[in-house]
Amino acid sequence: MTPEQPSQRPTVISIRGLKKAFGEREILRGVDLDVHEAENVVVLGRSGTGKSVLIKILVGLLRPDAGEVVVLGQKVHQLSPKDLDALRRRVGFSFQSSALYDSMNVSENLSFPLTMNTKGLGAGEVRERVEDALEAVGLAGSRKQMPSELSGGQRKRIGIARTLILRPEIMLYDEPTAGLDPVTSSEINDLILQVQQNYHTASIIITHDLACAKSTGQRVAMLLDGEMLRVGSFAHVFESTDPRISAFYAYNFMQSEQT
Ligand SMILES: Nc1ncnc2c1ncn2[C@@H]1O[C@H](COP(=O)(O)OP(=O)(O)OP(=O)(O)O)[C@@H](O)[C@H]1O
Ligand SMILES: [Mg+2]
Repeated sequence: MTPEQPSQRPTVISIRGLKKAFGEREILRGVDLDVHEAENVVVLGRSGTGKSVLIKILVGLLRPDAGEVVVLGQKVHQLSPKDLDALRRRVGFSFQSSALYDSMNVSENLSFPLTMNTKGLGAGEVRERVEDALEAVGLAGSRKQMPSELSGGQRKRIGIARTLILRPEIMLYDEPTAGLDPVTSSEINDLILQVQQNYHTASIIITHDLACAKSTGQRVAMLLDGEMLRVGSFAHVFESTDPRISAFYAYNFMQSEQT
């Protein structure tokens, strides 16, 4: 890590006044957030608060009703389809479900998106990049396995490797630890930190898992009732006396004690 504060580094994602409603239901009511180069920002929030909607807007899968979203210097919702495709190739999106191709083995699950997105790669280079990506997620030995033979944690790792193989400048993780036991979750948290250190990516990590937020985020942004109620270090966010933030903490702390 460089000694400078994340906030002094260039901004790679800038969200201002973002609004999104579905019919009468206002989901995002004016969200502001910045993410800086090589910074991990966690977005915490209850189920149904619009966390997935937020990252779908970031990659142009959903249109906002109002506000501005600038990713890697480009206004996402003013881009032509061609320029949006080019931008998406620079942003890795690790889905809430790992969404692996069940009929392909691990190696093919990685080489398929690579060859689709990066034209003109030779077979040797594809093989090398698959090996590198599997090694980066600690699964070098599982090339020939089928997704059905993998544990939940391994599937998550493969999902992350499949995103990393495209060498994105930004990583978006949607609920990376959902459905995993505490030990496997903590391995995924370590992996998220390793990705940041080895590839210097900026990341948004969407979660309601307090342990994940605490260990992976340099900054945490608390999304509640359609707004970023509080942004800062994990400790700063939960020092808040806002009863909605205390309630979120108490509820999720209890949930984590039960697993
Ligand atoms: N395409 C859509 N059309 C209509 N409503 C939608 C659409 N996408 C999301 N919603 C609604 O917006 C709200 C926020 O959804 P979102 O998936 O962002 O929640 P979330 O914070 O990611 O929740 P979780 O933690 O359960 O993943 C939900 O009430 C959902 O039903
Ligand atoms: Mg979600």
